[in-house]
Formats: sequence, structure tokens, C-alpha cells
Amino acid sequence: STKKLWGGRFQAQASKWVDEFGASISFDQLMADEDIEGSLAHVKMLEHTKILSADDVAKIVKGLEGIQADLHAGKLTFTVENEDIHMNIESILTDRIGPVAGKLHTARSRNDQVATDFHLYLKKRLPKVIDEISTLQETLVEMAEENVETIMPGYTHLQHAQPISYGHYLMAYYQMLKRDKERFTFNMQHTDIMPLGAAALAGTTFPIDRNYTAKELGFGQVYANSLDAVSDRDFALEFLSNSSILMLHLSRFCEEISLWVSHEFKYLDLSDAYTTGSSIMPQKKNPDMAELIRGKSGRVYGHLIGLLTTMKSLPLAYNKDLQEDKEGVFDTVKTLLPSLKVFNGMLKTAKPNVERMKQATENDFSNATELADYLAAKGVPFRQAHGIVGQLVLKGIQTHQNLQDMSLTELQAASPKIEKDVYHDLKSEVAVERRHSLGGTGFDQVRLQIKNAKNELGE
Ligand code: ARG
Repeated sequence: STKKLWGGRFQAQASKWVDEFGASISFDQLMADEDIEGSLAHVKMLEHTKILSADDVAKIVKGLEGIQADLHAGKLTFTVENEDIHMNIESILTDRIGPVAGKLHTARSRNDQVATDFHLYLKKRLPKVIDEISTLQETLVEMAEENVETIMPGYTHLQHAQPISYGHYLMAYYQMLKRDKERFTFNMQHTDIMPLGAAALAGTTFPIDRNYTAKELGFGQVYANSLDAVSDRDFALEFLSNSSILMLHLSRFCEEISLWVSHEFKYLDLSDAYTTGSSIMPQKKNPDMAELIRGKSGRVYGHLIGLLTTMKSLPLAYNKDLQEDKEGVFDTVKTLLPSLKVFNGMLKTAKPNVERMKQATENDFSNATELADYLAAKGVPFRQAHGIVGQLVLKGIQTHQNLQDMSLTELQAASPKIEKDVYHDLKSEVAVERRHSLGGTGFDQVRLQIKNAKNELGE
């Protein structure tokens, strides 16, 4: 293999397979753009501080810009001998402009360089993630608005509990995504700090101007401690953690979608465009996209645990272990954005089976709480009312009738306080509509949630 950029003190060369094991170029070339941007800002700072001459800097800038253009045109080739994106670019620069290229690395180390590239990479992607979350929130609000009065069973323990509004259900996910967005927005604060200028670990004797470089690169802050600058990956851990929670939210929804499209529920119909057939069973329409998003949560959690484990025993400052920080983050970005996009499309085109959802709340005892509340409102202590209704439910199970199917005489046998108006209260839409408590499923409350959400989304 060829002579290494750092080859001065070495006599023997690594074999090809050791080079391959140590190299990161196969994946860190994803940060080629950020690496060139970082170098351009660094070299301009070196001119500004008169560490390098304007003449030298002009040559380096011209060379880097040429490389940038070729990168965008897909014309660059990288080699494993040059190990990583940083040395590949520097080596190409040397081929193009000669030994003056060697001045680019003045007052810089790959340790602060790679950390800076990684920060820049994530800084560019976080707004895209936040945007996709907002798009999904808009879809949820839109659908909630159409379904304020769509009645469905609310579950606890996957058992019919109390009827709710489908709009209320959708707005619950809106709230989860709102917190996700807040987490990613906070993540941005820790990503917006520049490591460059920490050099290898201790800073540099050159009179550099880190604030100048930060301004060039659009960083809001610079790391205050050079050891921390080159060894911190909290911003990446936060990203993986936030992503895990987001995927968890999508996965829960996907689980319910998979249940709801099943023969047993039939609450929801997915568009053909988001389902697949079976190669053997002609009747099948499978919720593949929902299952795949649910499944992909696994790899994202894996990346979080992976990086936490890589980091947990690292002495300060840079260790080569840190090269393991990137692939999981890259893959998470590659997983998150399409998952959000596909989920959004799937949800937008999903049709709730309004009749069937409503029916499911009428063929059960999910209005039992209504009857207990009815008695409690008439002065029966709630505990006692609970007992009375419990016995009516037992009787209903034995005689195969729901509470609203029982005659007034039957109901009054359980409690003389029950009057004819009880049948109104036992209707599921009434049970939902009347839940006016703040944040409840009452129609007015769901409309209030939607109104506030629209404000938050700036609509
Ligand atoms: N490829 C390395 C990484 O991804 C760059 C930094 C290497 N620094 C070093 N001293 N070996 O972390």
C-alpha cells in the first residue's frame, strides 16, 4: 500500500486487511460535504489570523472548491489506504495542488475535525426530522377534525373500557409528537456547538480564532473545553435516544393499525397503496408498512444501546472506539425520515370504518361507568353505585342483553333511583359528548385540542 499521511515514524506497513479493518471511508464519506465545509472555514480562519499567507490560502480554497464540485458531480473516488474521509480529501487536495495542501492541517487534528464534521452532519439533518414530524402532526390534526364525533371503543388492558372520540385518539399522538419535536429541538442546542480548534485534545499554540471559524460554519457556540470537545458524543446519544422514543410512538400506532385492519376489528381500511398481497393467498391485504415501521424501531434502539455501550468506558479524550459512533446515527437518519414519510401517507389515506367503530361501543358494557355515574349524580355513593351496576352487568351477561336493552322495570329492580332518562345517558355518543373535563374526550374538549394544535403548528 501507499505511504500514509502520518507515515513518518513508521517502518513497517500494515497489511491490506488491517487497513480495511481500521478504515471508515466506506461510511464516513457520507460526511464529505461537511468535511470540505469544515476545511474551507478552517483555512479562511488561518488566513484571517495570518497563520497562513493569503496566497497559500487562495490555492487551498481553490483546490477544495474543485473537490467540492467533483464530489457533487459524483466524480471523486476514495481509497481504503487513505483510511477516512478526512485523509482522503487531504490526499486528493495534495494530488491537485501539491505540498501547499499540507498547510491545511495547521492547528487542527482529525480529532476536532471529525467531531466537527459529525456535528455539522446532524445539524443539517435535525431540521428535516423536525419538519417530517410537523407534517405528520398536520395530518393528525386534519383527521382529528374530521373525526371529532366518530365514536370508538376506548381500551384499557385491551378490553373495552369507555367509548371515546377517534379524534381524541388521534390527538393523543399529536401530543406525543409534540414532545418528540421538543426533544429534537433541544438536541439541536447541543449539536450547535463547534469542537474545531480543540486540535488533538489540548488546544494549540497557534493564535487561532475559534469564534471566527464558528461564525463561518454557522455554529452558535464553541466547546469551552478542548478535552470535552473531542470526546463528547452526547449530541449523538441524544439524537439516538430521541429517535428511539419517536420510533416507539410510531410503533405503538402501527401495532394498533395492524390490529384495527384485522378481520376481528375492521375499524380501519388502509389504502391499497400502503398494503401488499400474498404470493399464495389471493385474498390477503397485509399492513406491511405498519409492520415494517414497527419492526424498524428495533434497529434504532439497537443503535442507541450500541453507542451507549461504546462510550461507557472511554477514557478522555479521543479513542479510536469513537469511529463506531457514525454508522448507527447515519442508519437512524436513513430509517427515521422514510418511516415518518410512509407513516404519514399511510395514515392520510386510511379510512375509519365509522359504523363498525360505533357498533363496537353498543354491543358491550362500555357504558357501565355511565350508569354508575348516573346513580352517583343522584346521591348514591359511587362505591355503592359501582356495586349495583356490577350486578346488572352480571345479569346482562347471563341473559345476553346489554344495559340499554334492559327494561326500566329490570333496571329499577337494581335501584329505584333509575328513571327513564337513563337510556339517554347510556348512548355511547352521549357518554363521549358529555366528557367536558379539561383534556377529556368530550367533543368540545377535542375541538379545543385541535384549535390549540393549529395555533402551535402556526396554521
Ligand atoms: N476516522 C476517525 C473517526 O471516525 C477520524 C479520527 C481519527 N483520529 C485518530 N487519531 N485516529 O473517528
